[in-house]
Amino acid sequence: MKISEKAKSFIEQEDRYGAHNYHPLEVVLSKGKGAYVWDVDGKRYFDFLSAYSAVNQGHCHPKIVEALTTQAQQLCLTSRAFYNDKLGPYEEFIHNYFGYDKVLPMNSGAEAVETALKLSRRWGYIKKSIPEDKALIIGCEGNFHGRTISIVSLSTDPDSYAMYGPFTPGLVKIPYNNAEALEKVLEERGEHVAAFLVEPIQGEAGVFVPDEGYLKKCYELCKKHNVLFVADEVQTGIARTGKMLCCDHEEIRPDIVILGKAISGGVLPVSAVLADDHIMLTIKPGEHGSTFGGFPLACQVAKAALEVVTDEKLTEKAEYLGKIFRSEMKAFDSPFIELVRGKGLLNAVVIKPSNGKEAWDVCLKMAENGLIAKPTHKHIIRFAPPLVITEEELMEAIGIIKASIKSLEN
Ligand SMILES: Cc1ncc(COP(=O)(O)O)c(C=O)c1O
Repeated sequence: MKISEKAKSFIEQEDRYGAHNYHPLEVVLSKGKGAYVWDVDGKRYFDFLSAYSAVNQGHCHPKIVEALTTQAQQLCLTSRAFYNDKLGPYEEFIHNYFGYDKVLPMNSGAEAVETALKLSRRWGYIKKSIPEDKALIIGCEGNFHGRTISIVSLSTDPDSYAMYGPFTPGLVKIPYNNAEALEKVLEERGEHVAAFLVEPIQGEAGVFVPDEGYLKKCYELCKKHNVLFVADEVQTGIARTGKMLCCDHEEIRPDIVILGKAISGGVLPVSAVLADDHIMLTIKPGEHGSTFGGFPLACQVAKAALEVVTDEKLTEKAEYLGKIFRSEMKAFDSPFIELVRGKGLLNAVVIKPSNGKEAWDVCLKMAENGLIAKPTHKHIIRFAPPLVITEEELMEAIGIIKASIKSLEN
């Protein structure tokens, strides 16, 4: 892939002055609109990563940007030391939107997961009478919940946890998509288990969609053993998979829902933990928080972002366009394609290395041809465009993907 001198200078600057904790594709972006982004040389790309599903509403959505700029001129941050006139209305809005008694506002996805872990332990001690410091939380192998010490303590990916120990105790890992494994731990140690934390689809692991009925079975097991079912919907939530929450596909209502990313349309770091009173009120004033959590600017942006999801029927769009994407890619015959999977507009193509080329080369070729996506775990490419993409645009993008793969076959 050709890189201009201008782009190179930005890449070198990041390399020289920034920590080396990412390995980006060498495109330098400077503008975004809807499903498109432009690089510093004015070249346009379809964005098929959407900032890891944070930009479901499309880049720089006018309604969300309007909410941001209006509120930014009024009041940005108060901290929670005082009340403000935006948080209460936002909390009521979230209550009506998702149907949980309460919301605990946070900023990043990882922070919201941490909050859910703390809330689960709290509930375990107060409501389930687990002896103090004995609470267990069960997570799944292959998970990705963020980057804090406690969260990487639950990770099974050495890139995430290696040399970050010592790790947080009280975390149990079981295989994903295996309700029997959950049943076994609950039968053996259920009295001490506060929560089961699960991604309804494992996004970072490569869009692993569990078998139909898995989540429901796990939910029922949790109910049987008085354990909280905690859904990390940071990546799968907010219409991405063709339902507002991915758990809606199996008609289960998690005890705790964790949201992030697209709750702000990718405009600000906003996250949220949803739960009913008997869980949420086990945390008392002064026992958890964040300076920015629920700041007025975030409240207005997130409210606008969620209104866009409803107004523009993004749930239905994701469901409809996702089917087209999968059927087109499944029907595409190429030695590079091992598997196509996903739900809604959260999809992945598993690449079989061929001709000495692998997923990274496919991504470079697609970028050259005007579409950006990134491999996850070397051989899997996730395809997750903004949900505002039109059918026509999607078909054009699929054409680029196919042509790029085809051109590597020779
Ligand atoms: C399922 C899931 N949970 C949590 C996170 C962490 O979110 P953040 O990067 O905002 O901390 C991610 C990020 O990709 C995620 O996919």
